[in-house]
Order: sequence, then C-alpha cells, then structure tokens
Amino acid sequence: TIYPVILSGGVGSRLWPTSRALYPKQLLPLVSERAMLLETALRVTDPELFAPAIIVSNDEHRFIIAQQMRDAGLTPLAHLLEPQGRNTAPAAAAAAAYVQTHDPRGILLLLPADHHIRDVAAFHEAIKRGAELARAGKLVTFGIVPSAPETGYGYIKRGAALGEGAFAVERFVEKPNLETAKTYLDQGGYDWNAGIFMFRADRILDEMRVHCHAIASLATEAVHKASRDLDFVRLQPEAFNACPSDSIDYAVMEHTRDAVVVPVEMGWSDIGSWSALWEIGEKDKDGNVLSGDVLTLDTKNCFVRAETGLVATLGVENLIVVETGDVLFIASKDRVQDVKKIVERIAAEG
Ligand code: GDD
Ligand code: MG
Repeated sequence: TIYPVILSGGVGSRLWPTSRALYPKQLLPLVSERAMLLETALRVTDPELFAPAIIVSNDEHRFIIAQQMRDAGLTPLAHLLEPQGRNTAPAAAAAAAYVQTHDPRGILLLLPADHHIRDVAAFHEAIKRGAELARAGKLVTFGIVPSAPETGYGYIKRGAALGEGAFAVERFVEKPNLETAKTYLDQGGYDWNAGIFMFRADRILDEMRVHCHAIASLATEAVHKASRDLDFVRLQPEAFNACPSDSIDYAVMEHTRDAVVVPVEMGWSDIGSWSALWEIGEKDKDGNVLSGDVLTLDTKNCFVRAETGLVATLGVENLIVVETGDVLFIASKDRVQDVKKIVERIAAEG
C-alpha cells in the first residue's frame, strides 16, 4: 500500500485577493467547484493502491480542512499539525516518521495540495511505475516536459534509462535563474520536477540523516513526542520549531545520489498565479475565462472573477480582474507574478 501525504502549507499570496492567509488557495475552489486540497485527496482514494491520506498542515487550518474532508466523505489516516511552517523538508520528515510508527518501510507519496492534474489515469500509471522504484529504495520524482524557462520549478537532468519509463537523475537543480533555465531548455534532456515524490519512509529519513541531519532528527522527535488533540496529531513544538526551514528540493533532492525520474504526461499544472488559471480555464470565443456574474463587451483574453457582485468590462485586453466584495484587483496579465508585492505592501502598512 502507498501512503499519500498531502502537504498544505503555502499561503498562495500570488492568488490574492481570493487567497488569504486564513483561507489559502489550496482550501478554495479555484479550478473546479471543489477546493484544490480536496481534489488532491480525491485523486488518491483508490483502495487498491492507497491507504487513506495523511495531511500535514498548519494548526490554523485544521478545522477548515477537517470539515472539507468530512463533507467529501473522506477520513484521513492522520492529520499532523505543524506549530509553524518550516517548509517541505520537515513536513516530509514528520510524515515519514509518522508512517514508520505503523509501517517502518511504508511508501510515501508526497503531494502538493495546489496542483491540477487533468489526466488522473496517467497519474495513476506513473505512480504504479514509481512505486516499484520506491520499493527498491529509490527517491522517485515525476518529470514534466518543460514548455518555458520557468524559474519557479526544479529542473531534472535525465541520466541512464532504468528499464521502461524511468531514468536515473543525473542532476537536480531547484529554481535555477532565467539564464540557466534557458540553457537547460536549449540543451534538452531536462524535465520540470512536478513536486510529487515517492519514497520509502526509512529511505527518505536515511537520506535526510546524511544531507540534513537536524531536520531528520528533530522532525522524528516531534512525532515521537506528539500529542493527540481530537482527531489531530500535534507535532511537539519545541522539536518541530527547531527544524531548519528548508524545502525537500534543496535539502535532499539536489544532493542525493539515489533519485530517479518517471516522466509523465498528465496535463499537470501548478496553480501558482491568476494567469495559470486563465491558461487552464475554459475560454469563451474571445479567449476570456469568466466566473461569477460577469458581463464583457469587446473584451479579449481576460480572466474575470466576480465573487459577490457584477463585474463588467469594456474594450480591454489581457487583464486579470478579481472582485471579492472587500477588494477589487486589476492587473495586467503579464504582471501576475508581482501580486506578492501588493500583499507585502498591505502587510507592511497594516
Ligand atoms: N505542511 C506544509 N508545511 N506544507 C508546505 C509547507 C510547510 O511549511 N511549505 C510548503 N508546503 C506545501 C505547499 O502548500 C505546496 O502544496 C507544497 O508544499 C509545495 O510547496 P511550494 O512552496 O508550493 O513549492 P514550490 O512550488 O516553490 O516548489 C516545488 O514545487 C514545484 C512544482 O510545483 C518544488 O518541488 C519544485 O521543484 C517543483 O518544480
Ligand atoms: Mg508550488
């Protein structure tokens, strides 16, 4: 059996004003009528393949997540609460240590809570392939054919073929700069890292003991000293908060010699920004993606989301317009990565 682990820690500030700290993007219905975390959980419910999911989230989001899972008829195997987000390496280490309390060599499937996958059958096929490699002790990544020199992703250089549909990882480079990303695309042989990982609990903790010892030992301690609170497992704050904040990509994947990549075409997208939602959204004849009460006239290639009132646009192109009742946000579609700056300004000015 495979233990799916859903990581829900991000705040999704590039999807402001809909995404907020208390209600971040993964808990919102942005792509479909269901929250992205729930879509993620529903992708791994096949009992032939998966154990019930383990959720790792911030303390503050526990009731929202529990309610969403309950409403969908899902019961997690466990819901681990972090006193503070320490990025993905401590979260993964805690999940692995927790799985070890049931199943010392159990296989984890680490899943971000905020991705869209169009072809779930292809996703499951890749997981079956990955599971064989994970069982053999490998750290499995999933490779996506890159379509642009994005700097927000990890890049994986394929090495030797390992039977069908898998390769050794020759190099893993997390978030290269633009120039470097361009050379990777020109050279070819690189995949984007989908941010989904598979490995045995004992293997990831062994690798962490080598490459990020403090995270392995403190996160394990936080699990062993955890307390039960209703249906939640509260990681012990002293140990967990002492974990260095680092992502699994930097802390482990860039260093390990045991990584493999399973390339997969599954209609993957990271719902990182409003333009990503425009790209995957269903467009009208003028290329607009509209939701809510929206009226457009001579409007092209816009993303317009009305959450509480009517939004009307006239004679505009390539805009993002998001109305949430208390906020009206209007941006040029090619500036969506900078929404963060607005959120920072608001936080600074109180
Ligand atoms: N529980 C928990 N705690 N979850 C966290 C934390 C944390 O402290 N920090 C982040 N997460 C969750 C996020 O909510 C998201 O679902 C997932 O872990 C990945 O974190 P991101 O912060 O979104 O990572 P990223 O997008 O910068 O980079 C990763 O994903 C890319 C693909 O989308 C890397 O794995 C890249 O290599 C990869 O290309
Ligand atoms: Mg992400």
